[in-house]
Amino acid sequence: MTSGFEDFGDAFFRPSVNALTPYQPGKPVEDVQRELGLARVIKLASNEGPFGPFPAALEALDRTARDLNRYPDGGIYRLHEALAGRHGMAFDEISVGAGADGCIDMISQAILDPGDRVVCGWPSFPSYVIYARKQGAEPVLVPLAEHRYDLGALLDAVDERTKLVYICLPNNPTGTMNTVDELDAYFERVPGHVLTVVDQAYFEYIDRPDYPDAVERYLKTGRHVAILRTFSKIYGLAGLRVGYAVAPRSVCAAMAKVRRPFDVTTSAQAAAIASIDDGAEIARRRTVNADGLVRLHALLVEHGLEPVPSVGNFLYVDTGVDAGGLFDRLLHEGIIVRPLVGFGSPTAIRISVGTPDELDLFAAALGRALAHA
Ligand SMILES: Cc1ncc(COP(=O)(O)O)c(C=O)c1O
Repeated sequence: MTSGFEDFGDAFFRPSVNALTPYQPGKPVEDVQRELGLARVIKLASNEGPFGPFPAALEALDRTARDLNRYPDGGIYRLHEALAGRHGMAFDEISVGAGADGCIDMISQAILDPGDRVVCGWPSFPSYVIYARKQGAEPVLVPLAEHRYDLGALLDAVDERTKLVYICLPNNPTGTMNTVDELDAYFERVPGHVLTVVDQAYFEYIDRPDYPDAVERYLKTGRHVAILRTFSKIYGLAGLRVGYAVAPRSVCAAMAKVRRPFDVTTSAQAAAIASIDDGAEIARRRTVNADGLVRLHALLVEHGLEPVPSVGNFLYVDTGVDAGGLFDRLLHEGIIVRPLVGFGSPTAIRISVGTPDELDLFAAALGRALAHA
């Protein structure tokens, strides 16, 4: 920078942006490994699926690599078509984004003006709050009840300024869900001027009769609802950034107006299409996760901790003290977990269910990390 350059002050930027703090990324595995001189580091911090892309997705990635000099299909045509078929919805009732996170951003941009309100549980997925604030809208955070979304309290927080209600199903970071009966009762009461966003990022991991497919049960019965799904979790494509909303036509049309033309890359589109139909691999991964979840829960209990029973691919545990210490000790053992200060839970950590082999390493490290507490 030339000397004498006087940088812009806060007044130059939007007040709603000045009030934000940038996303704090976790340290890359390679950096932790090098800095701490560790032979192996495993990341159980971001609830990714622990397995890579499906075999057909890897083939699709190979094929598309040669065409990466070209821009992606900005209309995301084939993936929209495949997802519409998958859900039995029309083409224009699907909206693909750069991850479910990209969809939350598009929904916020399309719907929220300064002064509008968004209601969600808390602690929950931070993007609901951050992307609302980015628009100058006002998030209303409703405390969880026993680590679960309190749908009655959510409804009580809705007023005439509320445009969006988020229901995180299951909730990240606590791993808890609301039952179909609770959701039915919620949809009976929620006023018509509100769009409810049901975030089912972990949908494919859950196989329980009281866990609804919100597309089938609420969208197809005419509720004002948008459902979020992602290829980042069980499909193993978090690094590619692809997720989608299934929503009323008007919502998808508005999202299309704010989507950047080439946000969803050629590789992301091709890998997602190739992954959709592999029901056998989804079932296999669901079973491996369910077994891992039971094991991880038991492991924490054995060490005197009380994890919250989870239905996802991660566990929330309140350590009762500043969670930073345990995070650090686990880090020195080569295990990266997520301390939850940013989620509003400074004494809690969240641990993703890894592969069986990663769980072996975690089991060995946990005892040592807790012994030095
Ligand atoms: C509840 C929830 N919604 C959305 C996302 C974002 O997923 P994506 O990778 O598709 O942006 C996550 C990721 O952790 C999540 O936990």
